[in-house]
Amino acid sequence: MNDNSDVLKAAGLRKNYRKDKAAVDGVSFAFSRGEFVGLLGPNGAGKTTTIKMLTGLIKPSSGVIHYYGRDFHNESQMTKGLIGVVPQQNNLDRDLTAYENLCLHAILYGIPKDARRERIYEYLEFSGLTDYANRQVKTFSGGTMRRLVILRALLHEPKILFLDEPTVGLDPHIRRIIWDFIIKINRTKNTTILLTTHYIEEAERLCKRVMIINDGRIIVDGDPETLKDGIGHFVLEVYKDDKIEEEFFNTRDEALLALKDSTYPCKVRAVTLEDVFLGLAGRRINV
Ligand SMILES: Nc1ncnc2c1ncn2[C@@H]1O[C@H](COP(=O)(O)OP(=O)(O)OP(=O)(O)O)[C@@H](O)[C@H]1O
Ligand SMILES: [Mg+2]
Repeated sequence: MNDNSDVLKAAGLRKNYRKDKAAVDGVSFAFSRGEFVGLLGPNGAGKTTTIKMLTGLIKPSSGVIHYYGRDFHNESQMTKGLIGVVPQQNNLDRDLTAYENLCLHAILYGIPKDARRERIYEYLEFSGLTDYANRQVKTFSGGTMRRLVILRALLHEPKILFLDEPTVGLDPHIRRIIWDFIIKINRTKNTTILLTTHYIEEAERLCKRVMIINDGRIIVDGDPETLKDGIGHFVLEVYKDDKIEEEFFNTRDEALLALKDSTYPCKVRAVTLEDVFLGLAGRRINV
């Protein structure tokens, strides 16, 4: 394994569940060590399908995936240990304790018996979940369950972590706790992260690089600030009778000047990735 090569490289990845329509329609990208990437897109855009192909849960209809230069299809056993996965739906055994769930994972990933206990407690502590070790998962809140699923994905010390909608359905306070936890993983362990989300704020806050996916295609790939710079920094929202019109300006002052001249109710706000998406796809991410 060459540590200098891309952690992950995907080329021309496509998935057709049905003959006439591709759920993922030929996506290509490469991630280097420690990168924090967001895959942002609306419901049904192809985020989960992309993650499932990258983690070996489903077979691509075409395209290639390499981890550290090695073909994922031909060397799936070798590459499995490099990958950690947090699926969209929590898949813990609710009748078992946190420790027992982690132990099962440790066995599956070949962590030697004499190292298991120490590794599990090291990661419980890292995640702030030590007190939950011997409690049944079914007694946990949604946020604690999510943290446990993330912890479990780290146990075999993967080089790349896939998080599919890690905070969906969680309240804003818990969402922030999960964000801090994911940032800590990226910073302290230099783990490469690919996170899918349809929350604009999540992508903007966490990701140094965002790939926006729509209808199975990556329509733009870059750092959030540069992507937003491309359309201006401030938006004037004009509330007309039957629609909201948006005008883009480079400075707040320019936008405020236009606001003064308008005969309709208006609001000035900062540009978001939603505006980038709207400009490219002609619709909103969250409707
Ligand atoms: N097993 C399947 N069989 C057939 N079609 C599927 C299957 N899984 C997903 N699809 C379809 O593929 C497309 C992409 O789905 P996918 O789950 O990858 O989207 P997503 O971006 O993860 O959406 P969400 O934000 O709702 O999780 C959708 O049109 C979906 O209906
Ligand atoms: Mg999904």
